[in-house]
Amino acid sequence: MKFFVDTADIAEIRELAAAGVVDGVTTNPSLIAKTGRPIREIIKEICEAIEGPVSAEVTATEFDSMVAEGERLASIATNVAVKVPSTWDGFRACRALSEGGLKVNVTLCFSANQALLAAKAGAAYISPFIGRLDDLGLDGMEVVREIRAIYNNDKSFSTEILASSIRTPLHVKRAAMAGADVATVPPGVLRKLSNHPLTDKGLASFLADWGRSGQAIL
Ligand code: E4P
Repeated sequence: MKFFVDTADIAEIRELAAAGVVDGVTTNPSLIAKTGRPIREIIKEICEAIEGPVSAEVTATEFDSMVAEGERLASIATNVAVKVPSTWDGFRACRALSEGGLKVNVTLCFSANQALLAAKAGAAYISPFIGRLDDLGLDGMEVVREIRAIYNNDKSFSTEILASSIRTPLHVKRAAMAGADVATVPPGVLRKLSNHPLTDKGLASFLADWGRSGQAIL
């Protein structure tokens, strides 16, 4: 499973990329707004820092303007993936942009049927939002499992499942087990993946024993 990092914070992206754990980046209008900087400038910087796909989202809600915004975003860099919402106009825009040779990430997906429409519209990625479904007391991961089954049943689909709205390390593990192709993970959660108290405890005791031995690796 590939890791995308779900942030528009360029310093975080550079640091995680240097650790070799970033296959791509996803942003959304809220993440871009949080930076207080112009979207073109941020997306350009991220695209220069990362070789993989960088998702940038349209904010128009009608077909024609979605396509126009998508084309503008895609003109920023060759690795931009245009994000459109899982609405009727979004699926139409997905088809038009995909047929024009662009990578499209269909976002705000909360059902398997939306994912089915995205695949039929030629999406490169479908983004089921796990955490937001869990927030409602629903099972977000079940939607990922349903999408995996549907996509496996139709060999003509090439859409990748991009598990989104990931909030915990458990979400990451379960998305990988459910067959997601990619997980987009906030930096804080990505860093937590390496944590285990027994690793820290074991390391402390190895180092204490080593210190008492007086040895050095030369
Ligand atoms: C995905 O592309 C979205 O940017 C993101 O995963 C949304 O996560 P949230 O529900 O934690 O805001």
